[in-house]
Amino acid sequence: MATDITLNLQRHHVTIAEAMRTIISFDGEGRPIVAFRHGTNYVRGLSGEVLLKRALAPGQKERRKLPTDERRALLAELLADARRMIERIETEAPPAACDWFERIRRWDVERLEAERERFHAIYKPVSILPPDQYRALVLQATEGCSWNRCHFCTFYRDRAFRIHSPPSFREHIHRVKEFIGAGLGLRMAIFLGDANALIIPQPRLRELLRVVHDEFAIGPDADFKGIYAFLDIFGAERKTLAEYRELAAFGVRRIYLGLESGDETVFRLLNKPGSPAEAIEAVRTIKAAGIAVGVILLVGAGGERLAAEHVQHSLAALAAMPLGPEDIVYLSPLIVPPDSPYLAQLQAHASPPLTETAISAQLEELKRGARAVIGTGAKVVIYHIEEFVY
Ligand SMILES: C[S@@+](CC[C@H](N)C(=O)[O-])C[C@H]1O[C@@H](n2cnc3c(N)ncnc32)[C@H](O)[C@@H]1O
Ligand code: SF4
Repeated sequence: MATDITLNLQRHHVTIAEAMRTIISFDGEGRPIVAFRHGTNYVRGLSGEVLLKRALAPGQKERRKLPTDERRALLAELLADARRMIERIETEAPPAACDWFERIRRWDVERLEAERERFHAIYKPVSILPPDQYRALVLQATEGCSWNRCHFCTFYRDRAFRIHSPPSFREHIHRVKEFIGAGLGLRMAIFLGDANALIIPQPRLRELLRVVHDEFAIGPDADFKGIYAFLDIFGAERKTLAEYRELAAFGVRRIYLGLESGDETVFRLLNKPGSPAEAIEAVRTIKAAGIAVGVILLVGAGGERLAAEHVQHSLAALAAMPLGPEDIVYLSPLIVPPDSPYLAQLQAHASPPLTETAISAQLEELKRGARAVIGTGAKVVIYHIEEFVY
């Protein structure tokens, strides 16, 4: 085999690399999923969006979704690179590789780009997932956010909240399966979309979870290790310990809550539903049911004047939660959406927004503080919302 080309065949994906300068991985259908080229990383999501990630300077990264022209040009280059590498190694490659090469060669730019429309016929945009769930299989049991009024969050503004009926959810799942095809092998968890699927009243949620179990094997030894979902605190106060235990029995492994701030004033300024105290209570109940949690804090929330309280009370809220090694604390640096009411709220509280440098400093403070209050237990992870592509 050409000595500068390496081929890594896995059960559900394959990677071809040339002198480690160009590296491209493909899913079971032969679609490019991640690539490294000219010092830049790319991730192509199931939606057909491509995310670019590049280190600019120590601690500084460029992260952006490629616009159409750039995306099409990149895909053409990746496919050409892949064909060239395959041509050089195919006569000497192991027999198992030939089938992969066929699958990769089936794709051209037009066909890859046509996947975008197919995706949008099946899914509402998958706006965000927790970082440890980027490779989950998303099933939209609900669409949108039942609250949709937090001042900083514009993820679901484009759609009304709705809950699928069991038959329409089953149909959604069938269409997802058909679309993803052999790419399914890469997905090891199920994420119930969208923003707060666990707000679904228990009788309906039970029916929808039964549909998921009819369609997929879920368990520690199955292909899908568990079910995951977001929950806003407004919804959390409504489920009982017995109901969470039932969810645990259905394979729900971790629930993600956007606490954002442990400080009452900041919390209200953000217009989050519920309260920090209810969030602590919800975490206790969820943990008592044997389900792990992901708690999200919004770095920079509340601006300059409220910064010290935001940090102090957020750390106190974490300290009051029974977090263990299976739990994760996420720190999400606030990105102020241009069309959000957040800045007007800051003005009303006479608290100027934090600069990027001040947000970075608060991130470090929260990271150190969170590690100290939760000891060696839960993980503390940075949540960059611009790094997400599904
Ligand atoms: C879908 S949202 C939250 C899920 C759930 N509905 C809740 O409120 O708990 C996921 C997380 O994205 C983060 N997020 C939303 N908008 C953001 C923004 N403009 N800048 C930074 N993080 C943001 C928040 O920390 C939020 O908890
Ligand atoms: S932060 Fe959560 S509850 Fe608030 S609008 Fe966004 S998705 Fe909805």
